[in-house]
Amino acid sequence: MATAGKPIVCRAAVAWEPKKPVTIETIEVAPPKAREVRIKVIANGVCHSDLSVLDGKSWDPRIKWPMILGHEGAGIVESVGEGVTEYKEGDHVIPLYQPQCNECDNCKSTKTNICNKIRQTIAIGVMPDNTTRFTCKGQPVHHFMGTSTFSEYTVVADISLCKIDPAAPLEKVCLIGCGISTGYGAALNTAKVDEGSTCAVWGLGAVGLATVMGCKAAGAKRIIAVDLNPEKEELAKQFGATEFINPSDHDKPIEAVIGMKTMGGCDFTFECIGLVSTIRSAFYSCREGWGKTIVVGVVPAGQEVSISPLAFNVGRTMTGTVFGGWKSKEGVPKLVDLYMKNELMVDEFISKMIDLDGVNDAFDLLRGGKGIRSVIKF
Ligand code: APR
Ligand code: ZN
Ligand code: ZN
Repeated sequence: MATAGKPIVCRAAVAWEPKKPVTIETIEVAPPKAREVRIKVIANGVCHSDLSVLDGKSWDPRIKWPMILGHEGAGIVESVGEGVTEYKEGDHVIPLYQPQCNECDNCKSTKTNICNKIRQTIAIGVMPDNTTRFTCKGQPVHHFMGTSTFSEYTVVADISLCKIDPAAPLEKVCLIGCGISTGYGAALNTAKVDEGSTCAVWGLGAVGLATVMGCKAAGAKRIIAVDLNPEKEELAKQFGATEFINPSDHDKPIEAVIGMKTMGGCDFTFECIGLVSTIRSAFYSCREGWGKTIVVGVVPAGQEVSISPLAFNVGRTMTGTVFGGWKSKEGVPKLVDLYMKNELMVDEFISKMIDLDGVNDAFDLLRGGKGIRSVIKF
């Protein structure tokens, strides 16, 4: 490709500082260094985690500004750096904010999907060599989650990437880069929902609806969906929910409402919003003996949940998930294949197609709990 080895000038949404809209800028994307891949991004979903960071509610206080957000993308390899053997120009790929190096202790274990290899540099918004590949107005711009897909071109480490079926529509399967995989895997991999069980899911964005879909796939008998937006009832039922609760319709805490409805609580509860109050509610909505809560939503750094240890004594457990427990490089291509075989809903998660200039409007929709996913088509 004519651009290989040279900087590329393109458009990107730059987040300059917290609590300010992103601005669409002309940026320069440097060529990929060793074990890095430069990608032409084709499409990208706008996820609540991008919004949380922009709104100053990051889970990691080390995050560095300015940066290019975006972590739910799909694209085509433009060029590769030295030592990259797995990818070549033209490959269809999904960037992975949760890498899989297959070399670190975590990757070698079957007990977790969290790769430790480049976790520190991802956290501070740089590539593994501690520098950035983005420049805007002569200033370095940081990376985000090792992906930065709100840009026409991005550079990722080769362990933060997977190759997918070239026939898959990139403007759809980009959602497998975060929301769908996270929720679906939370039910199937992290909770391991049993057939016939009773589940409840808080928050019906893409992550929560994918969790509902996972509970259904696992054969749950009752799936109680909880959201403040009444429009989510119909949607949740399309994805498999059997009941809907709007907390605004009740003066009792939701754990009391669910306790009554289920005669003692659920087998599995999932928090897919990122609020400590709903994590607490989800936990107390679990039944004694074996009830299990999965924290899927991401809470801003520094916040804590208050729970009586006695609630653990009686056999409830709580755990959490990142990227739905999928070993990313292996899992994502398989999920894409399931979609291609019509065994995984994806199209249904897209509520709006937009262009890059519409990204601030997409953030406003997320702030209001409206729609599911806006997808940027570059
Ligand atoms: N009670 C019930 N529902 C709520 C509440 C609440 N207190 N607050 C918000 N909601 C609902 C919103 O109405 C919306 O439907 O939660 C949903 C959240 O959906 P999105 O904003 O689309 O979020 P999503 O992208 O699915 O991410 C959910 O997972 O990846 C993480 O950081 C992400 O923590 C976030 C979570
Ligand atoms: Zn690893
Ligand atoms: Zn996300």
